[in-house]
Amino acid sequence: MHFDDDQPELRSAHVIVVGNEKGGAGKSTLSIHLSVALLKAGRRVATIDLDTRQRTLTRFFENRRSWAKSASWPIELPFHCALERGESGDVRQNEATEFALFADAIGAVEHDYEFVVIDTPASDSYLMRLAHSLADTLVSPLNDSFIDVDVFSRVTHDRSRRGAVAHYADLVLEARRKRRLVDNGVIDWVMTRNRIASLASNNAKQIAISIARLGAELKFRVVDGLHDRVIFRELFPIGLTALDPIEEAADNRGLTASQQAARREIESLVENLRLPIAAPGLPHLESRRLWHAQISQLYRQMAESRSDA
Ligand SMILES: Nc1ncnc2c1ncn2[C@@H]1O[C@H](COP(=O)(O)OP(=O)(O)OP(=O)(O)O)[C@@H](O)[C@H]1O
Ligand SMILES: [Mg+2]
Repeated sequence: MHFDDDQPELRSAHVIVVGNEKGGAGKSTLSIHLSVALLKAGRRVATIDLDTRQRTLTRFFENRRSWAKSASWPIELPFHCALERGESGDVRQNEATEFALFADAIGAVEHDYEFVVIDTPASDSYLMRLAHSLADTLVSPLNDSFIDVDVFSRVTHDRSRRGAVAHYADLVLEARRKRRLVDNGVIDWVMTRNRIASLASNNAKQIAISIARLGAELKFRVVDGLHDRVIFRELFPIGLTALDPIEEAADNRGLTASQQAARREIESLVENLRLPIAAPGLPHLESRRLWHAQISQLYRQMAESRSDA
C-alpha cells in the first residue's frame, strides 16, 4: 500500500470506515452488524479495529470465534486485524509505529477481500485522518440529541442559522479534499441515526430537520438507522447478532417482533448504503446521484413550506 500522494494505486476492496468523534454514538455496534451482514451475504470481508484502547470489535470477534467452536450452525468470521498501540514514551514514535501497522494491515487485505470494515475510536489523530481519507463509504452513527449534532456543526439557539463547521466535520472535509487529490475518489458520507426511540418526539423531528439541512451543506446523505433495541447489545458476550439464527439457540421458540424488526433494520441499512456489491472499488456515481436527489427534495420541501407560510 502506498500512502504517497503522488502514487495513486488501484484498489479493489471497498473500504467502509465507521466514524464519529462522539464517544458512544454506536460506531462499534454498527461495525459489528455491517460486517456480519456482509459476511452473511457471502462477501469476502476483512475488519480492522483502529480503537487500540477499547478493542470492542476485536473483543466481539474473539467471542464469535470461541462460540463458533461449539455452535451447531456455521458461523461466518472475517479476516480480522487489531491494531496494537505504540507503547513507547515518545508520542511521535508511537504514531509512526501505529501508522506502519495500519499500512501493513491495509496492504494485507486490500486485494484479497471485497470489503474492509474499519471501526475507529472517538478521537482525532493522524491515523484517524488517514483512515478517513481511505474511505469509499464513511458511515457516521448519530444519536437523537443536539449534543451529537454539535459534533458536526455548532448548534446555536437560532436554529435557522448554521453554526460553524465543527471539528469532526472539518476532519471529514479535509479527508475528502485529500482523497480527491490522491486518486480522484469520492467519499460517500452517510449519516445514520442510531438508538432511535420507539416513540417519536418533537425533539427528534427537530433534529431530523437539522441533520437534513446539514447534509445539504456538508454533502452527506442520511439513511434510516437502528432503533434502540436490547438485541443490538445483549448478544455481544457470545459474539452473535440479530442476523444469526438465534431462534435455533432459543430452542426454536421463534423470534420476537423486536428481533425481526432488528433484522429488517440492519438489512435495509445495508441496502441503503448502496455498496457496490457487483463491482467493489468503482466510484460512487450512484451514491452521488442519490445524495443529489435527497438534497433536491429537501430544497423542494423548504420552498413548499415557505410558500405555505
Ligand atoms: N441501536 C442500539 N440499541 C441498543 N443499544 C445500543 C445501540 N447502539 C449502541 N448501543 C449501545 O450503546 C453503547 C455504545 O455503543 P458503541 O460501543 O457501539 O459506541 P461507540 O461509538 O463504538 O463508542 P466509543 O466511542 O466508546 O468507541 C454500547 O453499550 C452499545 O451496546
Ligand atoms: Mg467503539
